[in-house]
Amino acid sequence: MISFANPKGGAGKTTSALLLAGELAARGASVAIVDADPERWISQWGAMPGKPANITIIGDVTEDSVVDVVEDASTEHQFVIIDLEGTASLMVANAIGMSDFVIIPTQGASMDAKGASKTIKLIRNQARLAKREIPHAVLLTRVSAAVASRSLKNVRDQLDAAGIEVFASSIVERAAYRDMLDFGGLLSKLDPKHVSNLDKAVQNAMDFTAEVITRLKDAQAEQGRAA
Ligand SMILES: Nc1ncnc2c1ncn2[C@@H]1O[C@H](COP(=O)(O)OP(=O)(O)OP(=O)(O)O)[C@@H](O)[C@H]1O
Ligand SMILES: [Mg+2]
Repeated sequence: MISFANPKGGAGKTTSALLLAGELAARGASVAIVDADPERWISQWGAMPGKPANITIIGDVTEDSVVDVVEDASTEHQFVIIDLEGTASLMVANAIGMSDFVIIPTQGASMDAKGASKTIKLIRNQARLAKREIPHAVLLTRVSAAVASRSLKNVRDQLDAAGIEVFASSIVERAAYRDMLDFGGLLSKLDPKHVSNLDKAVQNAMDFTAEVITRLKDAQAEQGRAA
């Protein structure tokens, strides 16, 4: 189970959760998305045509039911992805406590360190309660395709210096990602004639997904060694 958490609104949780789910589904995996975002973007996306049959969306979830819902979904699907709300809540804490990996989308440009560090504190507390590591990493999002890589490197260096894991891939600001949420279906179903840089958007989603899989495998191997 992979959760997307950051109390900062608009950090890109919903967008990156859907990108990951879409890519995993495109590779043939069975994916459940638990939509715990009060805006219900993913449920609305799923109600539009184009949702692949191997993505199941579970929108009916409360802080009381989230543990049961995720456990049930995990028995039926290879991947369970949870898109969390942009606040700190019992729902968020419960979801983090159950996660195999927590992804912390953080806007690259503004580098909302506060939201990210709040989430990391919460993860560390939940890890202590659960007496296990909860693997996690910051994902820099909404990175401008044009921005000099130097400023991004600065952000990465700061996170590194603070001992915080950061994804090597970041999510670039792309119209294709907005269109996917607005019009439904997978990225690959968008029309390249109408969406600029669709190929780059698809490649970005693939790179991110490949890194998630590698990190999940590494975390599992690590936990196998610790056990
Ligand atoms: N990489 C991106 N490229 C283009 N638009 C993006 C990108 N990431 C996010 N957006 C847009 O920014 C807005 C906020 O993103 P998103 O809904 O993914 O954030 P969130 O963290 O889920 O927010 P909330 O806390 O409100 O749930 C949306 O309109 C989305 O389409
Ligand atoms: Mg959201």
